[in-house]
Amino acid sequence: MNNFAIKKVKARWVLDSRSTPTVEAEVHSGKGSGRAMVPSGASTGTHEALEMRDGTKEFHGKGVRNAVDNVNKKIAEHLEGIDSRNQEQVDRKMIELDGTDNKSKLGANAILAVSMANARCASSGLRKELFEYLAGMNKDDAKVLPVPMMNIINGGMHAGNGLAMQEFMILPSGMKNFSEALKAGAEIYHSLKGYLKEKHGKGAINVGDEGGFAPPISDTRQALGAIMKAIEISGYSSNEIKLGLDAAASSFFKEGLYHIDGKKISPEDMASFYGKLCEEYPIASIEDPMHEEDFDGFRKVTEAIGRKIQILGDDVFVTNVKRLSRGIEMKAANALLLKLNQVGTITEALDAFRMARKAGWNVAISHRSGETEDSFIADLAVGWNAGQIKTGAPARGERTAKYNQLLRIEEMLGKKALFGDTKL
Ligand code: PGA
Ligand code: ZN
Repeated sequence: MNNFAIKKVKARWVLDSRSTPTVEAEVHSGKGSGRAMVPSGASTGTHEALEMRDGTKEFHGKGVRNAVDNVNKKIAEHLEGIDSRNQEQVDRKMIELDGTDNKSKLGANAILAVSMANARCASSGLRKELFEYLAGMNKDDAKVLPVPMMNIINGGMHAGNGLAMQEFMILPSGMKNFSEALKAGAEIYHSLKGYLKEKHGKGAINVGDEGGFAPPISDTRQALGAIMKAIEISGYSSNEIKLGLDAAASSFFKEGLYHIDGKKISPEDMASFYGKLCEEYPIASIEDPMHEEDFDGFRKVTEAIGRKIQILGDDVFVTNVKRLSRGIEMKAANALLLKLNQVGTITEALDAFRMARKAGWNVAISHRSGETEDSFIADLAVGWNAGQIKTGAPARGERTAKYNQLLRIEEMLGKKALFGDTKL
């Protein structure tokens, strides 16, 4: 009997950072074991794989008892005996058992929890770090620590203020290594806190879902200006610290117009607004500038400013190779935001990662607004040498779990560690 063969698979519900239940799974072999939790989005893309919710009275309809039962009663027995080191076989077995396009039979939350737990089980059996195991899966050598994309002002569906855009980020891409970049992020976070408190009162330092401040402002330039001020107060330059936006534009697109900064503007005017912002501020990355179905609008924005900055596709591609290949063909963006739970298995996420890389695109590994203390994506970012990670503010445990794991990985890699994305 192969000692790496899966002996037991088990799931339970646990709580995420928004007090909503999510799925945690365990996978055990004769050699090791692993456990993982799945995150959950708020501004989810329409074409994401299905997150199965019970829809009953408990947890306001958000229970995951069916997804948990699917792991325990429908998935577990079919995985027993499979070699845990064969991630693709484990994932393909679950895809086959589900049999739908969007994982609606078993739930992407059920399937992904097992996929991630299996990777941990295999790496523990092999006595390898998770990032080393994931690098092996991609037939690569882990060495690149990612630029942390830190979301320090929250808006959109993640906050109770009037900002239309969802995320205002700092990208310390000009720092010399990951730990210096994280330190800069934490210092700027504190400078911003002081600045917002002085300017708008102490209610302005309440935080949104991803740990960034949610000040009572509703103007895009005002938010960017506050961040520029915080960077200056902290003593950093615009060579060291760039800005990033996740517009999550689907969430403020209504009846053909973008509702932003007290106005209702056309897609053409929205595109030129991005152009102006890029002239006024050191912006290096804009995510989801247009509505998720507007591939042509994405193409126009990329054509206009994509040579200078990164245009990241999240809701538009949903880590799905079909949508991504259309995006690559149309030149609708130049970078992929990769979220495991948009697609449901590590194997399929790797397919999307490779497709983006082959097209010469940047890739940023991302958390969700509803997160857990699981730091899996930190290992994933280094394991696949993605070069960028988006995992919220440098605050709140479910966000710092990832950043702190990256500090440990940087230490483990020692002299071998590289930092960042040269194309950013
Ligand atoms: P979500 O937000 O997890 O709520 O979808 C994150 C993002 O849009 O990148
Ligand atoms: Zn997004």
